[in-house]
Amino acid sequence: MAFDLDMIKKVYAGFGSKVEAARKAVGKPLTLTEKILYAHIWDQEANQAYKRGVDYVDFAPDRVAMQDATAQMALLQFMQAGRPKVAVPSTAHCDHLIQAKVGAETDLEKANTESKEVFDFLGSVSNKYGIGFWKPGAGIIHQVVLENYAFPGGMMIGTDSHTVNAGGLGMLAIGVGGADACDVMAGLPWELKFPKLIGVKLTGKLSGWTAPKDVILKVAGILTVKGGTGAIVEYFGEGATSMSCTGKGTICNMGAEIGATTSTFGYDESMERYLRSTDRNDVADAANKIKEHLTADPEVYANPEKYFDQVVEIDLSTLEPHLNGPFTPDLATPVSKMKEAAKHHDWPLTVEWGLIGSCTNSSYEDLSRAASIAQQAIDKGLGTKSSFGINPGSEQVRYTADRDGLLSVFEKLNATIFTNACGPCIGMWDRVGAEKQERNTIVHSFNRNFAKRADGNPNTCAFVASPEMVAAIAISGRLDFNPLTDTLTNDKGEQIKLDAPVGDELPEKGFAVEDAGYQAPAEDGSNVKVVVSPTSHRLQLLEPFPEWEGTDLKGLKLLIKAKGKCTTDHISMAGPWLKFRGHLDNISNNMLIGAVNFFNEETDKVKNQLTGEYGPVPQTQRDYKAAGIGSVVVGDENYGEGSSREHAAMEPRFLGVRAVIVKSFARIHETNLKKQGMLALTFANPSDYDKILEDDTLDIIGLTDFTPNKPLTIVLNHKDGGTDSFEVNHTYNAQQIEWFKAGAALNIIRKNIVA
Ligand code: F3S
Repeated sequence: MAFDLDMIKKVYAGFGSKVEAARKAVGKPLTLTEKILYAHIWDQEANQAYKRGVDYVDFAPDRVAMQDATAQMALLQFMQAGRPKVAVPSTAHCDHLIQAKVGAETDLEKANTESKEVFDFLGSVSNKYGIGFWKPGAGIIHQVVLENYAFPGGMMIGTDSHTVNAGGLGMLAIGVGGADACDVMAGLPWELKFPKLIGVKLTGKLSGWTAPKDVILKVAGILTVKGGTGAIVEYFGEGATSMSCTGKGTICNMGAEIGATTSTFGYDESMERYLRSTDRNDVADAANKIKEHLTADPEVYANPEKYFDQVVEIDLSTLEPHLNGPFTPDLATPVSKMKEAAKHHDWPLTVEWGLIGSCTNSSYEDLSRAASIAQQAIDKGLGTKSSFGINPGSEQVRYTADRDGLLSVFEKLNATIFTNACGPCIGMWDRVGAEKQERNTIVHSFNRNFAKRADGNPNTCAFVASPEMVAAIAISGRLDFNPLTDTLTNDKGEQIKLDAPVGDELPEKGFAVEDAGYQAPAEDGSNVKVVVSPTSHRLQLLEPFPEWEGTDLKGLKLLIKAKGKCTTDHISMAGPWLKFRGHLDNISNNMLIGAVNFFNEETDKVKNQLTGEYGPVPQTQRDYKAAGIGSVVVGDENYGEGSSREHAAMEPRFLGVRAVIVKSFARIHETNLKKQGMLALTFANPSDYDKILEDDTLDIIGLTDFTPNKPLTIVLNHKDGGTDSFEVNHTYNAQQIEWFKAGAALNIIRKNIVA
C-alpha cells in the first residue's frame, strides 16, 4: 500500500471540529475550499478569520509530491536539514526527463542511460529519507498521485504547476517551488496568501462529443490565462456530480492555465467509485464518515454570489466541444466555429499530429472514449491522416488499457505508444523535422500550448482538445473537421459519419498492473548512501552556507544595478540551463545573465571593479568571490517576479552576493532570499536608486542591531572619494533574522535537530 491511511484518518479525525471552529470565526456558512484551508491552518489555536486576498497564512499540508526535474534541488536542500526522515508523506516521480521519439521501450531505455545519475540520486535519496519513489516509466506525477495518494479534504503541495490535478479527488493541491517543498518536508509551515474564491456552477449534463475537457476549455475562454490569479476555483452543481472523478481531475489540472492557485470539487459518488476502484476502500469508508464536511455548506451552493468573490455558470447540456489555441490555452473556439476561425486567422488546416495523453487526459475513461472513435475508423474503412501518438499517464492505466485491447485499437491506426511520461507535453519530443521550423498544426489533449512547448518549433500551432476530439481530428487530418456534422470518405469512397464517443468511466474488470514501478523507502534509512558522483556535471551535494560574521558588512562591490523588469528567469534562466538544476555551481553560470545593466543597457556585461574591464555577470562575481569580496545587487520594481525558482536566490548566495537592494520585491522571491540567508532590502526612498554609481563600494550598517521594523543604513563610497548614505527597509521578522544570522533557514533546522 503506497498511501498513508493513518495520516488520512488523523486528518479526518479533527476535520469536523476544525470546520466548526472556522465557521464560528468566519461567522457564515463555508465553501469547501474554506473548510479545507481552515482545517489545515498551522496554528489551530489562532482560531481567527482570514481576509481573502490579503492575509498571509501558515498552513500544514498533508503531503508533498515532486517530479524528477524539480525534485533534484528540493531534495539536495532537504538533505541540509539534517532530518532522518521527511516530516510529511512525500513522493518523487521520474516523468519529465524521458524523451518521446521512437516508442515506449526504446525511449525509456535511452532515458535510463542518459539520466541515470539523476534517477539513481532520486532513488537513493528517497530510499534514505522515507520518500516513495516512482521509477522512470511508472507514470506522470499527477496521474500517479490521483491513483494512489489524493484524498478528499486533503491539502498537498507539489513541485509542479499541474499538482492541482488532485482537485479531481476533492483535494486542495497546489504547485510550489522546490524551496517550499523542502520546508514542508523539513517540518516547517507553508505560507500562502489566503486566496480569493471563484465558484463555477455546472448545470445540465455532458453528452455526445462533449467531455470534461471542454468545461475547462470554456472556463479558460471566459476567465483567460490571468483570470484565476490568487484564487481557488470551486466547481459545484448537478453537472459536477454527474461527471467522473478523472474528468474532474482534467478540469482541475487545467486550472493552472487560468492562473488559479488550485481548483477543487466536493466529495461525491464519482470520487467514492474512483477510490474503491483504485484499491482504496479504507479511504472511501473514512471519507464517507465525514461526508458533510467534504463539500460546502448547503447555503453556499444555493446562493453562491453571497459566498464566492466571483461566480461563473456553465450549462453542460449546451456546451460544445472546443479547440483552444494556438499559442495560448484561452483562445477558445467551439468546434462549430472552427471553419470560420481557422480561415480568419489563416491557421494551417492540415493536422500533422494528434497526441493523446499527458497528466491532463490519460485516464481509463479518456483512453476508452478515444479508442471508441479509433475503433469506428477501423470498422468503417477509415485510417488516420495525421500521425498519432499516445502517452499513457501511468503504468496502471497503460497495463489495464492494454489488457482491455484499447492500445491495440490505437496501434491498428499506426499510433506510436510513448512511455508513461511527460514526453511531448514538455518539449521532450524529438519530433522528426521540427528543426526545419515550418509552420504547421498539431492537436493534443495536453494542457499547455505556448510556442515551442511540444516540439521546440516556434511555428507549430498547437490546439488543445479532448482525447476523443483529437482522435477524430487525427482521423480526418483537418483542423476544421467537425465530427458532429461532417462526413469523411472511406476506402470504398463512401461518406462516413462518426458516432459520438462512448467509454467506461472505470475498467469493468478493475485496474490491473504487474509492476507499477514503485519503490517503497527503507524502514530505517540511516545506512542508505545517497548516490552522487563527485565528477557529475548535473548533480552536486550542497554545503551549508556560512553563518553571518557578526559585524556590519563593509566594502561590498556593486555587481549590477539592474534596470526595469528582472524576473526569476532573468536572474536564473531556464532553457538549456535546466539540466544543471541539481548542480548549484554549474547552474550559477547563468546568474543574472538576463538582467539589463543600468549603466550600459546591455545584458550580461558589467564592470569588474577589480580590473576595470567589462565581463559577464557570473564571471565578475566569481572574481569577487575569489578575492574574498562580497557584493550587492541593485534592482528596480517587483524584482524577482515570475516563477518561484529557488535557484534565483541560491545562486547569488552561493557566489557571494550579500544583499539585494531594490525598489520593491515580488514576495516569493523576497522570502526565498531570506531563506537562503541573504539580505533582501528595499529603498526607503525609491529615488535613492539613482544615487548608486557604477564604481560604488557599499557598506551595510546596523546589522549588529538587526531588528524587525528597524531600517538599516547603506553607505555608498563613490570612486571619487565622495559618499552618500540612505535608509533601506526590510520585512524580516524575528525568526527570519535568525535565518540571516545562521546563514540560512535550513541551518537553523539542522542545528535544532542536532541539538
Ligand atoms: Fe508532465 Fe505535461 Fe503534466 S509536463 S506533469 S504531462 S503538464
